Amino acid sequence: MAPNYGNKAYTLNDDMRQYFLKSPQDASRTEGGSLLTLLRTYEVEMTTDQELRRPIWLNSDNPLEVHVIDQRKLPHELVIAPLRDVDDTIFAIKDMFVRGAPLIGATGAWGMYLACINAPGGEVTDAWLGKEAGRLKDSRPTAVNLAWAVDRVMALLKGLAPEKRVRAAREEAAAITDEESENCRKIGEYGVSLIEEISKKKKGDTVHVLTHCNAGWLACVEYGTATAPIYEAHKRGIDVHVWVDETRPLNQGARLTAWELGRQGVKHTVITDNAGGHLMQHAMVDLVITGTDRTTWTGDVANKIGTYLKALAAKDNGIPFWVALPSSTFDWKMEDGVKEIPIEVRDPDEIRFIQGEVEGKTVQVLVPPAASPCENHAFDVTPARLVSGFITERGLCEASGDGVLGLFPEKQK
Ligand code: MRU
Repeated sequence: MAPNYGNKAYTLNDDMRQYFLKSPQDASRTEGGSLLTLLRTYEVEMTTDQELRRPIWLNSDNPLEVHVIDQRKLPHELVIAPLRDVDDTIFAIKDMFVRGAPLIGATGAWGMYLACINAPGGEVTDAWLGKEAGRLKDSRPTAVNLAWAVDRVMALLKGLAPEKRVRAAREEAAAITDEESENCRKIGEYGVSLIEEISKKKKGDTVHVLTHCNAGWLACVEYGTATAPIYEAHKRGIDVHVWVDETRPLNQGARLTAWELGRQGVKHTVITDNAGGHLMQHAMVDLVITGTDRTTWTGDVANKIGTYLKALAAKDNGIPFWVALPSSTFDWKMEDGVKEIPIEVRDPDEIRFIQGEVEGKTVQVLVPPAASPCENHAFDVTPARLVSGFITERGLCEASGDGVLGLFPEKQK
């Protein structure tokens, strides 16, 4: 008998079973009794909507549900998943339905709204909110936006009477989402000057930008961080081409950045993660722009594993290496990124299996010998000395304490 939630029935078909039970870790999740969470997050719609611009929104037909794009399935399937409570939200963050620092932050904020509407007996107490906020913040360690957004909603709710909290949480989550979108739009406006300048120097010849991972609208609510200047350049008619690092193990570049750029008609080429240095030596890269998951106020940048090696190669070849971020991605406390930023170590199965399409179906295949140990460090830290500067919603600055605090003087200690 299929479990029944509301008026919809769910069954675990063979595809779902294979997808969710691909690793021993997944199997143990079901033994722990959380299979219902898996079923509920798998209740999906398929969409082909070309107008999609954001990866998260409140379901307009049912405000008890937040909808997200299940990014694990892209680019070969476009699937929307509903989140109905904090368990769904945590699962979506951990399993990377949603990913990318600004989007993880926005999702955490919506998670606080879902915590409010699911409060036991409808009592949105401080104790309940504190517990749910803690669980949300623990779901991924490196991206600082998650704690920033959850704490922002929490601080607001604490000052309100319990009966006002559901509405306030919903409005604050929507505000955070909209603000991140606007921040990214401004990052595009400031960052495009870097591409414009190179285009002028090259007398209109193609500007080649290299990027790592996905810091596009999928990761950032709208426009993207690293991609925003590229989209703006494309919109202004500048001839721009993007080298897209495939970004093992989960291939966010090959799967997500390439998908995004293709939909917008931006010229791009997917390359292996190790190709960047060679292209730089042969003057085939004019500029590197990446995103970041956490940046210390002193200028050290945590980003997807492999970013550090790109920065070293860029330095050696005299190529500008810029990092684009909204202010929500600055860590205003940490000073030494290498020593202090927590680096997530993820499931080794992400290295063991590669996902792709076979005859219209998304499948995963095993690459190394089944018995070989794998270790999956998900981020690295690029020291400030290797970064040419930051592109933020307030403009461009040097990657240093002075540069950052010059743009954000209110953070001066
Ligand atoms: O592990 P992910 O996919 O959440 O990693 C985040 C990223 O996509 C990148 O590190 C990105 O450049 C920074 S987030 C805009």
